[in-house]
Amino acid sequence: MTSSPRPVGQPVRHPDRPPLNRRLAEFGTTIFAEMSALALSTGSINLGQGFPDTDGPEEIREAAVRALRDGRGNQYPPGPGVPELRAAVAAHQERRYGLLYDADTEVLVTAGATEAIAASLLALLEPGDEVVALEPYYDSYAACIAMAGARRVPVTLRPHVHDEGASFRLDLDELRDAVTDRTRLLLVNTPHNPTGTVLTRDELAAIAELAVERDLLVVTDEVYEHLVFDDAEHVPLATFPGMRERTVTIGSAGKSFSFTGWKVGWVTGAPALVSAVRSAKQFLTYVSSGPFQYAVAEALALPETYFAAFRADMLAKRDVLAAGLAEAGFRVFRPAGTYFVTTDIRPLGESDGFAFCRALPERAGVVAIPNAVFYDDREAGAPFVRFAFCKQVEVLQEAVKRLRAAF
Ligand SMILES: Cc1ncc(COP(=O)(O)O)c(C=O)c1O
Repeated sequence: MTSSPRPVGQPVRHPDRPPLNRRLAEFGTTIFAEMSALALSTGSINLGQGFPDTDGPEEIREAAVRALRDGRGNQYPPGPGVPELRAAVAAHQERRYGLLYDADTEVLVTAGATEAIAASLLALLEPGDEVVALEPYYDSYAACIAMAGARRVPVTLRPHVHDEGASFRLDLDELRDAVTDRTRLLLVNTPHNPTGTVLTRDELAAIAELAVERDLLVVTDEVYEHLVFDDAEHVPLATFPGMRERTVTIGSAGKSFSFTGWKVGWVTGAPALVSAVRSAKQFLTYVSSGPFQYAVAEALALPETYFAAFRADMLAKRDVLAAGLAEAGFRVFRPAGTYFVTTDIRPLGESDGFAFCRALPERAGVVAIPNAVFYDDREAGAPFVRFAFCKQVEVLQEAVKRLRAAF
């Protein structure tokens, strides 16, 4: 049988059916693409997307060059990641948190935390499962839950004003109420993007108790584990009683060592969970970032002085941007972690973060992201706008100058 000719560019069948499937239809193009294009066309300072404008440690760059020149990792590395990196991840979790993981069966290297999230959700969810996630949420969560055919159930972090300032807090009753018999998994993120909230030990203990009581799996995105400020403390969820066996923990070299382009991430967890995640991962990328894996293994073994300096540098940047935004008239939610600061634009007489961010490049020569893109409840997120401070101090100072002049 011969098929009839069809015009170039037409789908083979169902010409009135859109190419993008129903599960992804709501996601379209990310706001980051639109805002980065605006930054370019207007010559604005881009405080939208979260990537540092300086590379991580020189010796780690050199380690990558060495690996590449020595022919280590230029061909497909082993599926779970190179042994050196898996051992370094296990050693890091033990040294910092007292968490013992077997490097062969309980560590998996991924193409950034992004693939770790995708593979975890695709592996652990069945269509119809519910996933309780903190809202606002990192944008890939919703898309990956949708690709798995599952349903997201957001629990919204709400702004609170208290003695030390203002921050977004989790309502533990709301979290408990969100869990149903269909809930398969809690998706947690601490330190939290975009609010900068670091969940406290008590909050984490309550989440852990709930997970154990309702027999839930937990995927916890801890990519900003090294960026906590003031007296905040990062406590991995996997350290709480009953959690090690039900928790998949996600880390990222992009975030911890300022090499976001290398796309090296990892998961740690009990063998059955890691093996499940690996089943999905092998059909997404199979493997990635060969030579960079060797360099990241060295990075994870850097002395505490590296991590302390990284934190101190980012803290100084936070303070420049947070103070400048406050002086320009924003209400600032001073972040206890991450390299993002969320602001409320209502003191400026504004209430629509989308409109505000679309106008900001022309108005002030600065690009920011409307937090509403991280919400199902767009109304709840409408007045909030996120700025990234992982930029050189002079860049932040110039951004602050522009914002103060504009408002
Ligand atoms: C909360 C969170 N998770 C995951 C990622 C992705 O990390 P990676 O670049 O390692 O894929 C990001 C990046 O911004 C993030 O903010």
